[in-house]
Amino acid sequence: FFFASPIDDWLVSDSCGSATMGNPHTPPCADVPELAVPMPPSCPASWVAAALVLLVTLSVVRGMDDAATPFAALAIPASPLGTAPGHTPPVAWPASQRPLRVTLPHRAWDPRPRHAGAMEGGWARAAPGPEPTSRVAPRGIRAPPSTSTGVPAIWGLIAVVGAACALAMHRRRPQLTPSGPIHTCALAGTAPGPGATDDFDARCTGGGGGTISWTKQWWPLHVTEILDKRRPHGAQLLGQELVIWWDKTGADGAGAWRVFEDACPHRRAPLSEGRIEEDGRLLCAYHAWRFDGEGTCVALPQAGAEECRRLQGLPQACATPYPAQERQGILWVWGEAGAPGSPAAREASQQTPRLIPELVAHEADGRAGATPWNLRDLPYGWDFFMENVMDPAHVAVSHHGLAGNRYTGAKPVEFQLVRPPTYDEGFKFRFGPPKEGVTAAYNDFRPPCLLHISTEFSDGSTASLVLYATPIRPGYVRHIGCQAYVTSPEGKIPSSIVGRRTLPPPLGTFAPSIPVWLLHIVAPLFLHQDMAFLHHQEKILAHRGYSVNGPVPPTQSYVNSVFTPTTADRNVLCFRRWMATMGGGSLPWAPGTPPLPPREMDRAVLFECWHAHTKHCQHCLQALRAVVHLRNATACLGLFFALGLRTGPLRLVAASSFLGLAVALDMLKRLFYKYEFAHADND
Ligand code: FES
Ligand SMILES: [Fe+2]
Repeated sequence: FFFASPIDDWLVSDSCGSATMGNPHTPPCADVPELAVPMPPSCPASWVAAALVLLVTLSVVRGMDDAATPFAALAIPASPLGTAPGHTPPVAWPASQRPLRVTLPHRAWDPRPRHAGAMEGGWARAAPGPEPTSRVAPRGIRAPPSTSTGVPAIWGLIAVVGAACALAMHRRRPQLTPSGPIHTCALAGTAPGPGATDDFDARCTGGGGGTISWTKQWWPLHVTEILDKRRPHGAQLLGQELVIWWDKTGADGAGAWRVFEDACPHRRAPLSEGRIEEDGRLLCAYHAWRFDGEGTCVALPQAGAEECRRLQGLPQACATPYPAQERQGILWVWGEAGAPGSPAAREASQQTPRLIPELVAHEADGRAGATPWNLRDLPYGWDFFMENVMDPAHVAVSHHGLAGNRYTGAKPVEFQLVRPPTYDEGFKFRFGPPKEGVTAAYNDFRPPCLLHISTEFSDGSTASLVLYATPIRPGYVRHIGCQAYVTSPEGKIPSSIVGRRTLPPPLGTFAPSIPVWLLHIVAPLFLHQDMAFLHHQEKILAHRGYSVNGPVPPTQSYVNSVFTPTTADRNVLCFRRWMATMGGGSLPWAPGTPPLPPREMDRAVLFECWHAHTKHCQHCLQALRAVVHLRNATACLGLFFALGLRTGPLRLVAASSFLGLAVALDMLKRLFYKYEFAHADND
């Protein structure tokens, strides 16, 4: 499994097209290799054990090594009849009596025939005899020189002990016990508690009235840094299929990202399956119609020159553009289609996307910064994403080991409403109690797409999570996020910012920054811990009558579908109240959008990463190619040293090092495809 295969190349080139996991319009690729082939054990201890067992085998095999007969070192008969290399068997064995391969350490070998089933000069036959046939070795294979006889045995012993330790570690599950008292209570009923009082609901309803227009909004659609400009990309917004492409002739030659409806006006073939040609036009690869950045058809090869000029002016021949702009590294798209100069384009020009507040506020003094963007399509809805990220009570529990301890960190949470809800500006809560060194923490919901979690520190710096969410289709959300910060007056960056140098100069000058792809592949370590709940939670509540996926408002209110007796749920309840009133109760999916899909019970599909991120990100695709090549090279070097003609401990050290590195790289490669997580295993 170490070697490159057409499967690897196929994956890297994404011949699977633009299908995303569970895309109702496109069947999932049946031959996604990481899902289709049997997976070896993913536990690191199992891998260590497997590597050590491999080492044992190589050590044992090496014991049979004969410098003059490398085939014999592998114990592979050179002929179909299983004779030793270069030796012609006197008898042709019938198929039912094929010779056995003998692979025993040299000290167990005895060149003499032991029973009637053995053949002189050949391999032992599987016939009953006084001794096992495996104790008979072919003539001509000699033991290694006595000077090296101890080395394989020592390595084998070390490997066996190591494998036993690794397996023992794998089986051991530390039993953690809560350090504090466990409170139990007898529930008298399901009446709303302090988290859901009418008074609180009334305050969360806010003032001003009104209902948000979900389509007259700027939505974050993609991260431009990770987009490949050489090809069109499929995307979705509220169930509408879109195509993103780079128009190198746009913006007076500076280039601009364009977003069209993903359907050619000719016969509705997806433009995301098209091409970007040398002249900078988007070409529909079905009949070669070409479109410029405003959607105008500039080439229609099936028409003559005269007819072509006439047809090009017709609106029916134009692609359908959406207003789009790039701000702060994100491609923003307006929720309604419209060519330049259209009413939709004019409306869009009067609104500003939900930009990172710190970067806007500190543009002049330069005290603010942000980490690289991450993007991920998650298999749960927009509302469950928002609900999850504005719920600090889950952090220590769900992210046990990464961001807290489920046994000591689960505590009461208090909320203070600092900006009452409005349909267009959302609402803001201060929550606590604050941790040491923190003066205040806030959840700021800015519809339609931003949840901004900020933490203010006593040294004057601020760290934030900028969490965007775009509803792409029922049951799926596109999350784009980063960390932002404002330095202290002394210029210190908060230590919680990952991916930015925090060492003071001059050390910081030499500290390497974390590669973007590495930040991307570790993101599921955090996100999948919540996804294990949210994907199913959404369907369970829908089954009980609560869903924002329409086409009509839910038949059951959220507060009557759950039991939220503590103040820890206040922020979530306010969000659900906002959604039911100012949010209109449901999301306006495009006509024909399939309904909420059923629960995905196959964990290999649910926790996959290829469709969720890797295929969308040119950084990760490049890193994946490099990892595959490096893995293959180290595996070849490992095998070269393992099967080399010279003996000695240095050779075995080199072989085990390279093979171990190859195994580690193979494990790294798998993170580009899948990261499974189970809370039951997270001790
Ligand atoms: S469908 Fe696009 S050119 Fe025919
Ligand atoms: Fe990536």
